[in-house]
Amino acid sequence: MGRRILLIGGLAAGTSLALPQVANAARPSAVTLDPFTLGVASGDPGPDGFVIWTRLAVNPVAEDGLGGMPDAAIDVQWQVAADERFRRVVRSGSASARPSSAHAVHVEVTRLEPGREYWYRFRVGRFVSRVGRALTAPSPDSLVSSLAMAFVSCSQYEHGYFTAYKRLAEDRPELVLHLGDYQYEYRAGVYVAPGGNPRDHEGPETETLANYRQRHAQYKSDPDLQDAHAVAPWLVVWDDHELDNNWADEVYEKPEIPQPNFLARRAAAFQAYYENMPLRRSSVPRGIDLQLYRRIRWGRLATFHLLDTRQYRDDQGCGDGYKDCPAAVDPSRSITGAEQEEWLIDGFHRSRARWDVLGQQVFFAQRDNNNGPAKVTSMDAWDGYVASRQRITQGWVDAGVRNPVVLTGDVHAHWASDLKLDYDDPTSTTVGSELVCSSITSGGNGADSIPGDHPFLQINPHLRFYNNLRGYVRTTITPEEMRADFRCLPYVQEPGAEVFTRASFAIEDGKPGLHQVADRPPSTAVRARSADADPAQVIADTVAWETERP
Ligand SMILES: [Fe+2]
Repeated sequence: MGRRILLIGGLAAGTSLALPQVANAARPSAVTLDPFTLGVASGDPGPDGFVIWTRLAVNPVAEDGLGGMPDAAIDVQWQVAADERFRRVVRSGSASARPSSAHAVHVEVTRLEPGREYWYRFRVGRFVSRVGRALTAPSPDSLVSSLAMAFVSCSQYEHGYFTAYKRLAEDRPELVLHLGDYQYEYRAGVYVAPGGNPRDHEGPETETLANYRQRHAQYKSDPDLQDAHAVAPWLVVWDDHELDNNWADEVYEKPEIPQPNFLARRAAAFQAYYENMPLRRSSVPRGIDLQLYRRIRWGRLATFHLLDTRQYRDDQGCGDGYKDCPAAVDPSRSITGAEQEEWLIDGFHRSRARWDVLGQQVFFAQRDNNNGPAKVTSMDAWDGYVASRQRITQGWVDAGVRNPVVLTGDVHAHWASDLKLDYDDPTSTTVGSELVCSSITSGGNGADSIPGDHPFLQINPHLRFYNNLRGYVRTTITPEEMRADFRCLPYVQEPGAEVFTRASFAIEDGKPGLHQVADRPPSTAVRARSADADPAQVIADTVAWETERP
């Protein structure tokens, strides 16, 4: 702790962080170009309100990260209405967009009615933002009849167009979870998708506050991403690329490439993340810390336990990658840290929800890539922290959690799995389910295949589904079941793809495990390619897919 305090002291001189800053005030009329180029967003709904967000920028990719805005505070007016045309404005106010927070605005709107839709917008002078739609959570005791929730991860701007975000918005979900890799840190052309990158990042690899602000603004200027933010409140958690590939607490990516300023980099990334996400004040960063794990309740239908498996984890065992590594089973190592683990298990015991949903970053179920007695697994995933996984799984079993479901991103492919207390015993009962969304773009177009032909599904019989196209998962949660539609795009390296449902699974209330309810038959070409595939090559390709900058 002493080290942290010392470094925070060192940081304060060089960066603004979250420190209050005296700024000149500019009249809204001083803004002569449209400042709403980054769209609007809402997030973290409760029964009486939600956060609404915007950030002013007239030139999103300005190198200093300040969006071409004057070095002065700007007054931003906001309205929340009960109808889309704003005939019934129910809350309104103004907020100051300050240069010290890159002209970001977060308003925690309160005193709204539970369980209903609202619309919101912002105004600066003669400029009015687009309208966003938000929803309040149902009242704490109500068991509502359904929730349409979609979840996504891994949106590498360079790897393709954000068409999947647009298609998700067209599905009109009521809640969206982003499970990390919202943006990537690389300079243009460093991380290249198979087939080449159709777009480029602006600026260098993100290291300074200016870099991260510029990168966030470039992403937020994408119209498809803006549609997805405007359609529903989001619950966001980060993974690694919002800061640095495969970071773990205070440890940077590669020991052989030292980063003496890593903690300053971490503080800058966290500051920009907060500025650009619809998070509550409880997530305002303090130096190198940001409180991201939290709980969102959707009445008695669902509780979302949003986890942070980056900020408190022990460093990956055996230098990362897929390994047969003794550290993976060391009971003293943790992926959540002790405090977060206690908070989560306590939440299991207190939960009165029909569905307890863990929104988190990395693969939860065991995935052994070795057909023999050795266990070769991903050191960056829960497989690299087996004791953590065991304690948490046992925790929900002991608490009698009615329907535990883990949601995951990171691996740039759709997967689905039954969850077990003992993955090595085929007779071990199923105690939960995991749904893994593919990427929005990361990895480029990908390819369709026959799920059961992937060797991982034979080596790990609890794995139930795999597909390597881009997309997202659309869920419908009711008191009786949770249904998951694996939504896929045939391509992302050109704009305009349509979306289709590749397969659907259902989890029934009180019966852990996945039931497949629909499967779109693959084309003849996909069948032929799948039949010709060499299993060893498929495993090698999957390992490379997941370990080369996922
Ligand atoms: Fe990723």
